[in-house]
Amino acid sequence: MLLQGDNLRREFTFAGKSITALAPTSVAVDAGELLALTGPSGSGKSTLLNLLSGLDRPTGGEVRFEDQPLSGFSDARAAALRNAAFGFIFQTPHLLPYKTVAENVALPCSYGGLHGNAAISERVSGLLEYVGLASHATHFPHMLSSGELQRVVFARALINRPRVLFADEPTGSLDADNAHRVLSLLRQESVAGKCVIMATHDAEAMRFATRRLNLDKFAYAKTV
Ligand SMILES: Nc1ncnc2c1ncn2[C@@H]1O[C@H](COP(=O)(O)OP(=O)(O)OP(=O)(O)O)[C@@H](O)[C@H]1O
Ligand SMILES: [Mg+2]
Repeated sequence: MLLQGDNLRREFTFAGKSITALAPTSVAVDAGELLALTGPSGSGKSTLLNLLSGLDRPTGGEVRFEDQPLSGFSDARAAALRNAAFGFIFQTPHLLPYKTVAENVALPCSYGGLHGNAAISERVSGLLEYVGLASHATHFPHMLSSGELQRVVFARALINRPRVLFADEPTGSLDADNAHRVLSLLRQESVAGKCVIMATHDAEAMRFATRRLNLDKFAYAKTV
């Protein structure tokens, strides 16, 4: 199994009270799958993505990437794993405003992964072509629409050839056409062998998934 979480739970303590962000949940995902995480607001979808990607640590349970428990990873090793093997797409595209589209896409390479200016610029061009933004390479983020920005984020997420793509409400800020483009790209990536995990409220997005995990704040997660 590529990525799995066993009995994951996350609690926060605030003002002396315990808040359950994620009730015990088990999930296993393999290459080629597009798993949709669904459930009401507050059921723990974002929390689960953060735990599976090693951005956050569970209160209980274990995350394994290729059978290696992440609890045994130092923060630095977890960060290195994220940069090398994981790609991230969030609801709102976050790009550095003073860097061009091409520079933003190349950014993860400055933390490791692909190196060499020629190799990086060739890969950036290929990815911008793939997401339909070749003509925007030298533009700055403020010159792009939100649908275009989300496709830049998508290209950036792919730069280091990640094994897993995490998408948290990737179509939340997009109109139907742009949402469809981003969902088609996610689907294409899973068909090409990536593991894609997407939190979503969007019924249209769920149709692109190969499987669905429904989270319920007050019960164990159920696979539908
Ligand atoms: N750092 C934190 N401190 C305290 N409570 C938190 C924290 N992070 C999340 N929570 C709580 O945990 C619960 C789950 O949050 P989470 O963001 O994972 O939900 P979600 O399913 O992604 O919701 P949405 O659909 O609105 O994005 C919420 O009730 C939230 O308030
Ligand atoms: Mg969320």
